Amino acid sequence: MKRMSTDQIRQAYLDFFKERGHAVIPSASLLPDNDPTTLFTGSGMQPMLPYLLGEKHPLGNRIADSQKSFRSVDIEEVGDNRHTTFFEMLGNWSLGDYFKKEQIPWMFEFLTKTIGLDPKRIYVTVFRGNDVIPRDMESVDAWKTVSASTGIDGKDVDFPEKNGMQDGRIFYYDEKKNWWSRAGEPAKMPAGEPGGPDSEMFWDFGAERKLHERSEWKDQPCHVNCDCGRFLEIGNNVFMEYKKTANGFEKLAQQNVDFGGGLERIAAALNDDPDVFFIDVFTPVRELLQSLSGKTYGSDEETMRAFRVIMDHLRAATFLIADGAPPSNRDQGYFTRRLIRRAVRFANAIGIPTNFTSTIAKAYIAEYGKAYPALASQAESIALVLDQEEVQFRQTLQKGEKELSDFLSQHDTIDGGKIFYFYETYGFPRELTEEIVARQGKHIMHPEHFEKAKASHADLSRTAAAGKFAGGLADHSAETTKLHTATHLLNAALRKVLGPHVQQKGSNITAERLRFDFNHPEKMTAEQIEEVERLVNEAITADLPIAYHLTTVDGAKTEGAIGVFDERYGSEVKVYVVGDPASGSGQIFSKEICGGPHVARTGMLGRLTIQKEESCAAGVRRIKAVVEDGPADIETAGESA
Ligand code: SER
Repeated sequence: MKRMSTDQIRQAYLDFFKERGHAVIPSASLLPDNDPTTLFTGSGMQPMLPYLLGEKHPLGNRIADSQKSFRSVDIEEVGDNRHTTFFEMLGNWSLGDYFKKEQIPWMFEFLTKTIGLDPKRIYVTVFRGNDVIPRDMESVDAWKTVSASTGIDGKDVDFPEKNGMQDGRIFYYDEKKNWWSRAGEPAKMPAGEPGGPDSEMFWDFGAERKLHERSEWKDQPCHVNCDCGRFLEIGNNVFMEYKKTANGFEKLAQQNVDFGGGLERIAAALNDDPDVFFIDVFTPVRELLQSLSGKTYGSDEETMRAFRVIMDHLRAATFLIADGAPPSNRDQGYFTRRLIRRAVRFANAIGIPTNFTSTIAKAYIAEYGKAYPALASQAESIALVLDQEEVQFRQTLQKGEKELSDFLSQHDTIDGGKIFYFYETYGFPRELTEEIVARQGKHIMHPEHFEKAKASHADLSRTAAAGKFAGGLADHSAETTKLHTATHLLNAALRKVLGPHVQQKGSNITAERLRFDFNHPEKMTAEQIEEVERLVNEAITADLPIAYHLTTVDGAKTEGAIGVFDERYGSEVKVYVVGDPASGSGQIFSKEICGGPHVARTGMLGRLTIQKEESCAAGVRRIKAVVEDGPADIETAGESA
């Protein structure tokens, strides 16, 4: 097989789809804007959602990218050879253009010819079908054709989860495995959510590795989804053509392809080593950790787990800080904090001396700086943030040790629930507390209370996470769209009142409120706040029309559009205009580069109230505002005539 670096695989993929008519776009931020459904970008598909639903993408109907992704649900799983919280997802999209007949041969060609994976070691899965959605025979036919082209028998077999491989190449699974939507299987999808059957591709690390003998699956018939370690999913072709409705499914207006491939996993397949942490992007950090700890990666399970946690968590933290989520006690920053603290705890366990997190971050920045220039330009500030957080956490740990020893000096026993308290508050691993307790000759009462407390805590955060989704875009897309338009009005009004130096520094919308960050050196006066509100509400009362047109980045600049020129949409962009262009430029309230969607008229919004104006960072102010309910039915803004 070929030797390719992760950088080379990423580039080869983007080039491959560029040659096939795709516009290559840069990764969106890990922190989604204008999407209340989720805290993080967890797949390449998320930023593409409006376009999968029919919004016109300014760069056409074939798009490819490598999207930074973060999945917080995976935090506790990190430590095995394949799970990471942060990963890059290679993505190509057909927005109502090509479908299965093109996608499957292209993926096969990319994997087997472009990067040179052995076709005999690739296995695929397809949707078995149910009462409503048919079995995906079109994908099966496409896989059979490409298999035959390399002399492989593309035998399709059913029920691999019961009967094992059965000498098959193509396997049917149910909707728990071969259906994709942001919410998961069909039953879990809220009305309005798009999804579809998918076809996944797996790499076979080889039966001779006997990976399954060590796993809990050793007595099961092995199959690609059995999780024994022999097979690794490297990519997923989602054929997104359905939308959940109140009483079933309907077809979307267009048939989409959403391909997502784990870049690190593809690199691991090419490396033919099931341990993802052996790929090149981790090598400098792995070596650094070896020299800092004096331990060898791979020497024993515990060391290996600690290395993996540190490698994963600090890579994720580095990218999260760069995208605007420094450690904090809330929202996304809470996860950054957890990652850093967990990494420090595991580092302590393998004897790494103090203040190492910024050193690790620098190594990652050197590794990724070329593909992600924003990392390189923020290298110093990222290091500073990590240094501060690490010092502060080590002080917390010391405080916890003192509290624990005070407690133990006054009590002969400690309850399992209290041990959980030290775990949750100070990040003390259970074993550490138990060790200290034993060393002082004290006893543990009800050790099982630890698990109980942990479970109820996990329930709480799961409820919070579920609420996040339930309160999401699907139910509230009208609210979200309205608040998104309100953000444009606010941005324009702030510039009129405070001056043209005002620039958006961030925005976050939930179904209930909007939050808008912008640069301004001082606190706004009450009069300024009132004037901004008045201007926005005047624009709402005037019921101005809203429409977009497509232009180049330079064209947008020349016509005076504001917005973040971060090239997210490539060289061609959408400019949303609020106001009637025919009535002279005096009537135009706002002109801003944006992907949309927006409402069609400002009158679809209710009255805006600014609830809070506060400092958010040096030289950056934050406004929180709400908009009263306007008409329930909204229309979205279209392309200008
Ligand atoms: N959306 C699919 C996934 O995340 C493929 O991109 O797996």
